[in-house]
Amino acid sequence: MSKNKDKPKRKDDKHQKAVAEIVPSVTSPDIDIGISTNDRRKIAQGLSRFLADAYTLYLKTHNYHWNVTGTMFTALHTMFEGQYTEQWQALDEIAERIRALGFAAPGSYADFARLSSIRDDADASEVPDWKTMVQQLVSGNEAVCRTARDVLKTADNAGDDPSVDMLTSRLQIHEKYAWMLRSLLE
Ligand SMILES: [Fe+2]
Repeated sequence: MSKNKDKPKRKDDKHQKAVAEIVPSVTSPDIDIGISTNDRRKIAQGLSRFLADAYTLYLKTHNYHWNVTGTMFTALHTMFEGQYTEQWQALDEIAERIRALGFAAPGSYADFARLSSIRDDADASEVPDWKTMVQQLVSGNEAVCRTARDVLKTADNAGDDPSVDMLTSRLQIHEKYAWMLRSLLE
Protein backbone atom coordinates (compact mmCIF):
# COMPACT_ATOMS: atom_id res chain seq x y z
CA MET A 1 0.00 0.00 0.00
CA SER A 2 2.69 2.48 1.04
CA LYS A 3 4.57 1.65 -2.14
CA ASN A 4 1.64 2.89 -4.26
CA LYS A 5 1.31 5.98 -2.13
CA ASP A 6 4.94 6.92 -2.73
CA LYS A 7 4.85 6.29 -6.45
CA PRO A 8 3.62 9.66 -7.80
CA LYS A 9 6.04 11.57 -5.56
CA ARG A 10 9.02 9.53 -6.75
CA LYS A 11 8.00 10.08 -10.34
CA ASP A 12 7.74 13.84 -9.72
CA ASP A 13 11.18 13.99 -8.08
CA LYS A 14 12.64 12.06 -10.97
CA HIS A 15 11.02 14.48 -13.42
CA GLN A 16 12.42 17.54 -11.61
CA LYS A 17 15.89 15.96 -11.51
CA ALA A 18 15.71 15.20 -15.21
CA VAL A 19 14.79 18.82 -15.95
CA ALA A 20 17.77 20.10 -13.97
CA GLU A 21 20.13 17.71 -15.73
CA ILE A 22 18.95 18.33 -19.26
CA VAL A 23 19.48 22.07 -19.49
CA PRO A 24 23.24 22.17 -19.12
CA SER A 25 25.73 24.93 -18.54
CA VAL A 26 25.54 28.14 -20.53
CA THR A 27 26.60 27.68 -24.14
CA SER A 28 27.28 31.41 -24.65
CA PRO A 29 28.84 32.71 -21.40
CA ASP A 30 29.33 36.34 -22.52
CA ILE A 31 25.65 37.14 -23.04
CA ASP A 32 24.54 40.44 -21.48
CA ILE A 33 20.94 41.16 -22.51
CA GLY A 34 19.90 42.54 -19.13
CA ILE A 35 18.75 39.20 -17.66
CA SER A 36 21.03 37.45 -15.17
CA THR A 37 22.54 34.07 -16.08
CA ASN A 38 20.59 32.48 -13.27
CA ASP A 39 17.27 33.87 -14.54
CA ARG A 40 18.10 32.91 -18.13
CA ARG A 41 18.85 29.38 -16.94
CA LYS A 42 15.54 29.13 -15.08
CA ILE A 43 13.61 30.39 -18.11
CA ALA A 44 15.52 28.04 -20.45
CA GLN A 45 14.70 25.11 -18.16
CA GLY A 46 11.04 26.08 -18.18
CA LEU A 47 10.99 26.58 -21.94
CA SER A 48 12.62 23.16 -22.36
CA ARG A 49 9.74 21.58 -20.44
CA PHE A 50 7.31 23.60 -22.55
CA LEU A 51 9.04 22.50 -25.78
CA ALA A 52 8.86 18.85 -24.65
CA ASP A 53 5.13 19.17 -23.91
CA ALA A 54 4.46 20.99 -27.19
CA TYR A 55 6.44 18.39 -29.18
CA THR A 56 4.70 15.45 -27.50
CA LEU A 57 1.29 17.01 -28.20
CA TYR A 58 2.31 17.75 -31.80
CA LEU A 59 3.28 14.09 -32.33
CA LYS A 60 0.10 12.82 -30.68
CA THR A 61 -2.03 15.08 -32.91
CA HIS A 62 -0.19 13.92 -36.05
CA ASN A 63 -0.51 10.29 -34.96
CA TYR A 64 -4.29 10.71 -34.60
CA HIS A 65 -4.49 12.41 -38.01
CA TRP A 66 -3.04 9.21 -39.45
CA ASN A 67 -4.95 6.67 -37.39
CA VAL A 68 -8.41 8.12 -36.73
CA THR A 69 -11.32 5.93 -37.90
CA GLY A 70 -15.11 5.98 -37.75
CA THR A 71 -17.96 8.25 -38.79
CA MET A 72 -16.02 11.35 -37.71
CA PHE A 73 -13.06 10.48 -39.94
CA THR A 74 -13.15 13.39 -42.39
CA ALA A 75 -13.86 16.10 -39.81
CA LEU A 76 -11.19 14.90 -37.38
CA HIS A 77 -8.56 13.99 -39.99
CA THR A 78 -8.83 17.60 -41.27
CA MET A 79 -9.04 19.23 -37.85
CA PHE A 80 -5.99 17.35 -36.55
CA GLU A 81 -4.02 18.32 -39.66
CA GLY A 82 -4.72 22.03 -39.09
CA GLN A 83 -3.61 21.75 -35.48
CA TYR A 84 -0.42 19.71 -35.95
CA THR A 85 0.71 21.89 -38.87
CA GLU A 86 0.39 25.05 -36.77
CA GLN A 87 2.03 23.36 -33.75
CA TRP A 88 4.97 22.20 -35.86
CA GLN A 89 5.78 25.79 -36.86
CA ALA A 90 5.65 26.93 -33.23
CA LEU A 91 8.18 24.32 -32.03
CA ASP A 92 10.94 26.12 -33.93
CA GLU A 93 10.17 29.44 -32.27
CA ILE A 94 10.28 27.88 -28.78
CA ALA A 95 13.61 26.10 -29.41
CA GLU A 96 15.18 29.22 -30.90
CA ARG A 97 14.11 31.29 -27.89
CA ILE A 98 16.05 28.86 -25.66
CA ARG A 99 19.07 29.38 -27.93
CA ALA A 100 18.69 33.17 -27.79
CA LEU A 101 18.83 32.91 -23.99
CA GLY A 102 22.21 31.15 -24.35
CA PHE A 103 21.30 27.52 -23.71
CA ALA A 104 21.12 24.35 -25.77
CA ALA A 105 17.62 23.32 -26.81
CA PRO A 106 16.54 19.70 -26.19
CA GLY A 107 15.90 17.93 -29.48
CA SER A 108 15.85 14.16 -28.97
CA TYR A 109 12.99 11.76 -28.19
CA ALA A 110 14.89 10.76 -25.03
CA ASP A 111 15.01 14.38 -23.82
CA PHE A 112 11.38 15.00 -24.68
CA ALA A 113 10.25 11.81 -22.93
CA ARG A 114 12.10 12.85 -19.76
CA LEU A 115 10.95 16.48 -19.81
CA SER A 116 7.33 16.18 -20.93
CA SER A 117 4.39 16.19 -18.52
CA ILE A 118 2.23 14.55 -21.22
CA ARG A 119 2.11 10.77 -21.31
CA ASP A 120 3.19 9.32 -24.64
CA ASP A 121 0.87 6.99 -26.55
CA ALA A 122 1.18 3.23 -26.49
CA ASP A 123 2.39 1.58 -29.68
CA ALA A 124 0.38 1.28 -32.89
CA SER A 125 -1.17 -2.00 -31.78
CA GLU A 126 -3.35 0.01 -29.40
CA VAL A 127 -5.01 2.72 -31.48
CA PRO A 128 -7.73 4.50 -29.47
CA ASP A 129 -11.22 5.20 -30.84
CA TRP A 130 -11.98 8.74 -32.00
CA LYS A 131 -13.58 9.86 -28.73
CA THR A 132 -10.57 8.71 -26.72
CA MET A 133 -8.30 10.51 -29.21
CA VAL A 134 -10.23 13.75 -28.71
CA GLN A 135 -10.17 13.32 -24.91
CA GLN A 136 -6.42 12.72 -25.06
CA LEU A 137 -5.90 15.89 -27.09
CA VAL A 138 -8.07 17.94 -24.70
CA SER A 139 -5.88 16.72 -21.82
CA GLY A 140 -2.72 17.31 -23.83
CA ASN A 141 -3.66 20.88 -24.75
CA GLU A 142 -4.61 21.59 -21.14
CA ALA A 143 -1.25 20.20 -19.95
CA VAL A 144 0.59 22.44 -22.42
CA CYS A 145 -1.39 25.41 -21.02
CA ARG A 146 -0.47 24.56 -17.42
CA THR A 147 3.23 24.36 -18.29
CA ALA A 148 3.07 27.59 -20.33
CA ARG A 149 1.43 29.43 -17.39
CA ASP A 150 4.09 28.18 -15.00
CA VAL A 151 6.99 29.24 -17.27
CA LEU A 152 5.27 32.54 -18.05
CA LYS A 153 5.53 33.53 -14.37
CA THR A 154 9.27 32.81 -14.35
CA ALA A 155 9.81 34.80 -17.56
CA ASP A 156 7.66 37.69 -16.34
CA ASN A 157 9.50 37.94 -13.01
CA ALA A 158 12.79 38.19 -14.92
CA GLY A 159 11.51 40.87 -17.32
CA ASP A 160 11.85 38.52 -20.31
CA ASP A 161 9.15 40.08 -22.52
CA PRO A 162 9.86 38.07 -25.70
CA SER A 163 9.34 34.79 -23.80
CA VAL A 164 6.22 36.24 -22.12
CA ASP A 165 4.84 37.27 -25.54
CA MET A 166 5.55 33.89 -27.09
CA LEU A 167 4.03 31.95 -24.18
CA THR A 168 0.96 34.23 -24.10
CA SER A 169 0.31 33.61 -27.77
CA ARG A 170 0.83 29.84 -27.38
CA LEU A 171 -1.57 29.86 -24.42
CA GLN A 172 -4.26 31.55 -26.50
CA ILE A 173 -3.89 28.95 -29.24
CA HIS A 174 -3.78 25.87 -27.01
CA GLU A 175 -6.75 27.08 -24.94
CA LYS A 176 -8.64 27.50 -28.22
CA TYR A 177 -7.70 23.99 -29.39
CA ALA A 178 -8.81 22.57 -26.03
CA TRP A 179 -12.17 24.34 -26.33
CA MET A 180 -12.72 23.16 -29.94
CA LEU A 181 -11.84 19.57 -29.10
CA ARG A 182 -13.89 19.62 -25.88
CA SER A 183 -16.91 20.83 -27.89
CA LEU A 184 -16.83 17.61 -29.94
CA LEU A 185 -17.59 15.64 -26.79
CA GLU A 186 -20.50 17.77 -25.53
FE1 LIG B 1 -1.90 13.81 -44.02
